[in-house]
Order: sequence, then structure tokens, then C-alpha cells
Amino acid sequence: MRLQAHDRHPELQAALDHLIVAGGKRVRPALVLLTGNMLGADHDRLITTAAAVEMLHTATLVHDDLIDGALLRRGNPTLNSHWSPAATVLTGDFIFARAAKLAANTDCLPLMKLFAETLAIIVNGELTQLFSSRGIANRENYDQRIYAKTASLFEMSARAAAMISPVEQVLVEIMQEFGRNIGMAFQILDDILDFTGEQESVGKPVGSDLLQGLVTLPTLYFIEKYPNDTNVAILLNGNFASEPKAMIELVQSIRSSECIKLALNDARSLVKAAISILKDMPAGEERQALEELARYIVDRKI
Ligand code: IPE
Ligand code: IPE
Ligand code: MG
Ligand code: MG
Repeated sequence: MRLQAHDRHPELQAALDHLIVAGGKRVRPALVLLTGNMLGADHDRLITTAAAVEMLHTATLVHDDLIDGALLRRGNPTLNSHWSPAATVLTGDFIFARAAKLAANTDCLPLMKLFAETLAIIVNGELTQLFSSRGIANRENYDQRIYAKTASLFEMSARAAAMISPVEQVLVEIMQEFGRNIGMAFQILDDILDFTGEQESVGKPVGSDLLQGLVTLPTLYFIEKYPNDTNVAILLNGNFASEPKAMIELVQSIRSSECIKLALNDARSLVKAAISILKDMPAGEERQALEELARYIVDRKI
């Protein structure tokens, strides 16, 4: 990933170095590497795939923070906090280009297609969220949203690693399902942390989903249980933007309600399903580590 930033405009290079050094959890490349090592993928191709996936993820974050007006990411100021939108968009584009180049370096045409299709799903999901998800309280809409913005990339990570491994198609599909399940769980946890997390440990702003009118799983449960809550009415009437105080109050109510636990249970079920799928995979330390990765996703505090 570092090599991808070399020989470019010094500002761009500094920005990329900064982003990469800040790290993040690197969950997606871990998924790629563990899956590929479990299934016997070629080492170099596997590393390239893992880097491609993480670069793609990083590019979506650069654009996402601009879209969301977020000022903090991975504990650092975002690019959009000190650069113009133009420079930020272009930096994201550059990272996308590098991700695509890495994907092409695997010399696997189906992988490149998968890569392009996944990016289209993510972007379409972000657009859908932007235009038509505010104040919408509906489980199906939520599931589609978290699949598009997060689970699709987890699904791709596991599938891509299996695709470049010498295995039958059925194992590729099973790993894809594993990736999708833990990806859905990962986003549910992200949505829970927006209520329960501390900005210092999460490294990005918390409590902001409701301020933007974004209804996530804890809120869906809360609406179901307390349909007559006045702040819920403000959210669903579309007045969340003009009544930030009400939304902050609603965050507090949800945080101290049983709805966090209900959302967590859903994430746990997805992880359980993912782990049970793994039984058809070759036993060994990679499979063990994939199980631990799945559990970490619902136990994490950051
Ligand atoms: C953040 O992803 C965006 C979501 C899909 C929730 P991560 O939580 O994996 O971010 P980093 O890479 O660890 O910073
Ligand atoms: C990140 O979504 C989505 C993508 C990377 C496409 P969010 O806006 O919900 O995530 P955070 O909270 O900024 O990480
Ligand atoms: Mg965001
Ligand atoms: Mg966003």
C-alpha cells in the first residue's frame, strides 16, 4: 500500500502516508489473508488482493467523510477538515485508481469484475442513503443499506481470496456467505458504537447518525417499542435537522434502553451463522483465526 503512494505530488504523497500510517483495524485484509491462506492461495497474489481491498476501503472513507462532513477519522483530522472538497475528491479518486491497479495486478479477470461490481454497489448504496434514506424506519431498507455500504465489501474480500485459491466453486460461495454475514454484523456494531462508543477510542465522531436522520438498528427497535415518543415523532416527520436537541435526547434514550441489546443480539446471530458455515472449511489455525475474527466483530469497542 505504501508503494502505491510513491512518486506523486508531495501533498498527495503526504496525505496517503498519513492515512496509511493511521492504520485502522485492517479487518478486511485480515479476512482476505486468512481465507486465502486457509485455501492455499499464492502468497504474492493474496497480498496484492488484500492491499487492493484495503485501498478500496480507504478511498470510500475519504469520500464518505467529505459527504458526511466528518472531521475525525482513525483518530486524525480528515482530509476534508483541512483541504478543499476538490482536493479531497481527487485524493479519493487517486486511491480508487491505485486500488483498481492492484486488483488488476492479480491477473484474475473475474476478480477485477467483482471489484468493479462491488464498488458500484457501494456507491449506489451511498447515493440511496443520500437521496432517500433519511428518516426512513424500515428493517428491509436498513438491511439493504448495510449490505450495500459494508457487507458487500466483506463479501467481496472473502470471495476474492477464495477465487484466487485452488478450490471448488462451492467453497467460494461458502466463503462469500461467511463474508456477508460478518459484514452485516460489523455494520450493526458500527451503528451500535454510534450510540455507545467514545470518540477517543472509536477515532471518529459518534452520536451523529440521528443528527443526520439516519435510522439504524437500535433506533428501529426503539421506534417499535416506543412509537409515541415525541422525539421519535420529530425524527419520522423529517424535522431532525432543525431539532438537533431532540435528536441528542433521543440518542440518550436509546443508549439507556434495551434496544442496544436487541441490536447486539442480531449481530451475534449473524456471527453465529458465519461461524457454523466455517465447519466445511479445512481445519487449522487459519480457520480458527477466522472464527476469532468473527467473534471480535461483535465484541469490539472500537
Ligand atoms: C469504517 O470501517 C466504515 C464502516 C464500514 C463502518 P472500519 O471500522 O473498518 O474502519 P477502519 O479501517 O478500521 O478505520
Ligand atoms: C461508511 O459509512 C460507508 C462507506 C465506507 C461506504 P458511515 O458513514 O456510516 O461510516 P462512518 O461512521 O463514517 O465510518
Ligand atoms: Mg461517515
Ligand atoms: Mg456515511
